[in-house]
Amino acid sequence: MNYNKKTVKDVDVRGKKVLLRCDFNVPLAKDGSGTITDEKRIVAALPTIRYLLEEGAAVIACSHLGKPEPDFDKWVKKQTEKGKDPAALTEEKWKKSLDGLRMEPVAKRLSQLLGQPVLLADDVVGPDAAAKAAALKPGEIMLLQNTRFEKGETRNDPAFAEKLAGLAGVDGIYVSDAFGAVHRAHASTAGVARHLPAVSGFLIQKELEIIGGALAAPKRPLVAILGGSKVSSKIGVINHLLELADTIIIGGGMAYTFSAARGGKIGDSLLEADWQDYANDMVKKAAEKGVKLLLPVDTVIADAFAPDANTRVVKDGEIPDGWQGLDIGPDTVRLYCDAVKDAGTVIWNGPMGVFEFEKFAAGTKAVAQALSETGAITIIGGGDSAAAVQQLGYADKMTHISTGGGASLEFMEGKELPGVACLLDK
Ligand code: 3PG
Repeated sequence: MNYNKKTVKDVDVRGKKVLLRCDFNVPLAKDGSGTITDEKRIVAALPTIRYLLEEGAAVIACSHLGKPEPDFDKWVKKQTEKGKDPAALTEEKWKKSLDGLRMEPVAKRLSQLLGQPVLLADDVVGPDAAAKAAALKPGEIMLLQNTRFEKGETRNDPAFAEKLAGLAGVDGIYVSDAFGAVHRAHASTAGVARHLPAVSGFLIQKELEIIGGALAAPKRPLVAILGGSKVSSKIGVINHLLELADTIIIGGGMAYTFSAARGGKIGDSLLEADWQDYANDMVKKAAEKGVKLLLPVDTVIADAFAPDANTRVVKDGEIPDGWQGLDIGPDTVRLYCDAVKDAGTVIWNGPMGVFEFEKFAAGTKAVAQALSETGAITIIGGGDSAAAVQQLGYADKMTHISTGGGASLEFMEGKELPGVACLLDK
């Protein structure tokens, strides 16, 4: 895939209306207060927004927020599948679920951060959005309602994409800065590019340059640290990185499937039984390709999945029944930290243990610290690893923390990203 895409600097936006797709899919407090618990994605969009406003564009920003279901019948079906009582699934409850994902909190915070009003439309492509977009002046910004309130968004409906693009008028421009959503072929992330000249904002440009650069021409040795609970969700990445990396380090819950596959005793630890053959194949493939594949040599075990569980350290493959592995052990920590010391580039995706519990955070913490001390280019995939680095206080020590969870994972899998592919080549 070609990552060399036109950016906002390659087009003249003065006096034009710009449809700007951001990833404002921010976490909200569970109490329904609309409090944004992590505003990183809004902050990350500011450079492009400021640039467009200063250059005299009228900015029509849009984003999805969460996973609202805009079709009542489908909503009922999904809730029923989740085990909810169909009799209790009223239209009122469905509307409430949508109300909880309106863009008001985002508009408010964006306005505070920009220091100027952010006009909020009451719909996505309805009469209110159309009227507000038509009246928008250069230097002004408005935000549409949650794009996923429209059925046409996730199914990339051509008519909806055309209407959305139409808000920017005949000489409008589409700027995508929603890196977190570029793996989605939706109307607002890809479909609209059929109707407007499409370029990237600074955030997508930066993510493509740094992650793309590390994959295409890494400063070697390239060390990939892969953690998280499931082997099945990391297959694509492991496969792709086996072609590129010099060293692959495996940690987190998925390491126990590798351990069991080699005949180790893993007690009550996480196991994906169907993936054991695959795990063994990976080990074989790594050996054939001359990639160093590091697996845990010891592990911190607990007698319950709880923050106050009793803990012990045992050798890999020696976990008694009734116990489960929740973090890498101290010898493994030393091994992994040594491996990143002389790295040229380190890519990290997925925590080493249950870092949310203090007792099982040591492995993830040690790796984060080792990354903060190496001279290597350090790239943290989004999602859990980004949260871990942030929570443990090492965020400002990393070269790059991706704003994309699923997007950065698919990028590292070498997959084509529809939200990037649709942008104009340089
Ligand atoms: C994310 O949070 O990873 C992006 O905003 C994409 O969201 P989605 O998984 O709901 O498409």
